Amino acid sequence: METVLSGIRPTGHLHIGNYFGAVKNFIKLQENYNSYFFIADFHSLTTHPTPKDLHDNVKNVLAEYLACGLDPEKATIYIQSDVPEIPEMYLLFNMNAYIGELERTTTFKEKVRKQPDNVNAGLLTYPVLMATDILIHRAQKVPVGKDQEQNLEMARKFAKRFNHMYGVDLFPEPQAFNFGEQLVKVPGLDGSGKMGKSEGNAIYLIDEPKVIEKKVMRAVTDSGPTQKNQEKPEPIQNLFTLMSIVSDKETYDFFNEKYNNCEIRYGDMKKQLANDIIAFTLPFREKILEIAADHDYLHKVVTMGAEKARASASKTLQEVRKAVGFRKF
Ligand code: ADP
Ligand code: TRP
Repeated sequence: METVLSGIRPTGHLHIGNYFGAVKNFIKLQENYNSYFFIADFHSLTTHPTPKDLHDNVKNVLAEYLACGLDPEKATIYIQSDVPEIPEMYLLFNMNAYIGELERTTTFKEKVRKQPDNVNAGLLTYPVLMATDILIHRAQKVPVGKDQEQNLEMARKFAKRFNHMYGVDLFPEPQAFNFGEQLVKVPGLDGSGKMGKSEGNAIYLIDEPKVIEKKVMRAVTDSGPTQKNQEKPEPIQNLFTLMSIVSDKETYDFFNEKYNNCEIRYGDMKKQLANDIIAFTLPFREKILEIAADHDYLHKVVTMGAEKARASASKTLQEVRKAVGFRKF
């Protein structure tokens, strides 16, 4: 059975873009693959979160993953910092990663621009840690967005390099998991682009109904179509795309027809869209709150996840140490 693995940095709550673009697919993957889903809390240190926030951020993402249907019995769900084999392998991999190639990655250059006062060594070696995450379980498939393609390319490079340097066949070259047609991009409500945390336009699964209503009612629109069947400008298309994701087909068709007949009232459409988003997110919200309050359950999940992840990681690490030349006295 092939192994899939994906990590998420605990930097905020899950929004409906994350759900439809990533987590929903993970739930399918856990049925048919040996799967690992983890919370990359070491990675999040590269942007210096306050110690006060770190634990809550991890807990939020964990509770939200579980509420979405990630199943600790089917997948290995763990916290990166619970697996001490990861920092050890990261140290060994750093010896074969070169400053030049790390400095050239676009994600590093972007971070240098974004946080010029905090260009720490962890940022530079971010791709080494990510490669370690993947290679320590010898994962073949990694479901990530386009922005992670270069990091994945680095993981392939480090895998090949290790195999070649030590004359072993230890690591497969991990590939991006291609969802093909199924991959949806959830738009934002601010007129253009995608929904995202950093874009400040996200609707979170944990949002209260009132908050969602406010966010949707504020969505950018225009003065309405002037010709029948005219093409929709981006802000309007975004509303319809969101509706196609959360509402039923009749609802979508109803408003689409209104638009095409130049009879659309955006206020009505937004009200309907807000109701449908709330109907979609509310069961998640309730589940998240229930799981987040159940400390015994969360403790059980992370303990079991760490055990399973360490069993797999320590096997790989033993072979890595052997290949590098460490021997027991
Ligand atoms: P954010 O954009 O909120 O910072 P991340 O970059 O952490 O989210 O993405 C986490 C996962 O969610 C990735 O797999 C990414 O491709 C997916 N994702 C994020 N935003 C969207 C979106 N608007 N539509 C579809 N998928 C998304
Ligand atoms: N870098 C990824 C992101 O920002 C998170 C991540 C860390 C990851 N380690 C990983 C993703 C390993 C996939 C595999 O989204």
